[in-house]
Amino acid sequence: MSLMKPYTIRPAVLREAEQIFNLIRQHKDDLISRPIGDIVQNIDRFVVCEAGGEIVGCATWQILPEIGAPERASVEIQSVAVHADYRRHHIGTQIIKNILERVRLFDSAQVIVLTFAPAFFSSLGFRPIAKTQVMHKLYMGCINCTKHANPFTCPEIAMALDLSSTGTKMCE
Ligand SMILES: CC(C)(COP(=O)(O)OP(=O)(O)OC[C@H]1O[C@@H](n2cnc3c(N)ncnc32)[C@H](O)[C@@H]1OP(=O)(O)O)[C@@H](O)C(=O)NCCC(=O)NCCS
Repeated sequence: MSLMKPYTIRPAVLREAEQIFNLIRQHKDDLISRPIGDIVQNIDRFVVCEAGGEIVGCATWQILPEIGAPERASVEIQSVAVHADYRRHHIGTQIIKNILERVRLFDSAQVIVLTFAPAFFSSLGFRPIAKTQVMHKLYMGCINCTKHANPFTCPEIAMALDLSSTGTKMCE
């Protein structure tokens, strides 16, 4: 029997910051934990999946002015998590598509992600890129990591979605 309740995908509201914090923290092996103050401060960039008053999925993004020309700066997708009971029902896909629609509005050239779930991002059109293309991001994100001696031996995959070639795909 499915444990899933009816759900909606939508932008987060401030009162959901604590649940987002807990969902991210439950995925320590896959995601960098975020302080709750950081989530509150950036709540306007979180998209969530809510089911019966519970946050069962989330993701956010950040503009990276240091990657690409500033007028078409890259965007990084971060903190992508779907509760285990709700996986493989395309909830993650809907959350990321919602974010991509919003990112399209400000004409970024590409969206990047550093991920341990490459099959998921491949299904959304992301393709692997060399980690050397995101050196600044690696430096900032990996500097406090204690799991791997350096970002090039870490199994996390760098991937990118070229927004200039996905115009029709976004509207499916
Ligand atoms: C990665 C994650 C967000 C996917 O969420 P989800 O809602 O289950 O994903 P979707 O149902 O939208 O998957 C879409 C497609 O991605 C691929 N996919 C998703 N999860 C996969 C997995 N574990 N293994 C292989 N392919 C996978 C499949 O092609 C899938 O389509 P299909 O089910 O029709 O075959 C979820 O597994 C998760 O929270 N994992 C732990 C945290 C994490 O790794 N986050 C990503 C780090 S950036």
